[in-house]
Amino acid sequence: MLIRVHDKNFQPYLSSQEINDQVSRLAQEINRDYGTKRPLFIGILNGSFMFASDLFKYITIEAEISFIKLASYKGTRSTGHVITSIGLDESLKERHVVVLEDIVDTGKTLSEFLPQLYDQQPASLKIAALLHKPDALKHPLKIDYLGFNVPDKFLLGYGLDYDGLGRNLKEIYQLVNE
Ligand code: IMP
Ligand code: MG
Repeated sequence: MLIRVHDKNFQPYLSSQEINDQVSRLAQEINRDYGTKRPLFIGILNGSFMFASDLFKYITIEAEISFIKLASYKGTRSTGHVITSIGLDESLKERHVVVLEDIVDTGKTLSEFLPQLYDQQPASLKIAALLHKPDALKHPLKIDYLGFNVPDKFLLGYGLDYDGLGRNLKEIYQLVNE
């Protein structure tokens, strides 16, 4: 069933069950890999709030979570600007950090942001992303925990927006080309 958001049509792409299966699998891998290391998760707002929240519910080891706000996106195409608008209170020194990102598209956001985290000398730094568009990647990045590789088409829902709308959808939708 198509849905219309602003001026565009979107078709169902990933069901909430498919998303949930991958999110719980990623959490299980993290539980197993980190054990007693007490990781600090850093969710990248706004897009990752739903992924971060659902993943964190499946974390059964001792862990902390915090959020940072960056922006590199306007409309359906990356603007290429990264702005840090909410800082991080926690010190990352000696911490095992896991960055939570909704989607890695060109990789620009994370490749510009990660050096700022490395500057704080974390004990380790890994990336967990729900979605990745390998064909759009321009800034090489290693994604340590990945839910889905997806084609280079605009997605909506489960935290992802199109000009502010659609974040509340439980499923992920794909733009229908007209
Ligand atoms: P990147 O810097 O090009 O990797 O873009 C990363 C950010 O752009 C993500 O964190 C999203 O917030 C946003 N983004 C990338 N692709 C999409 C999409 O298909 N739908 C909605 N937002 C997207
Ligand atoms: Mg984002």
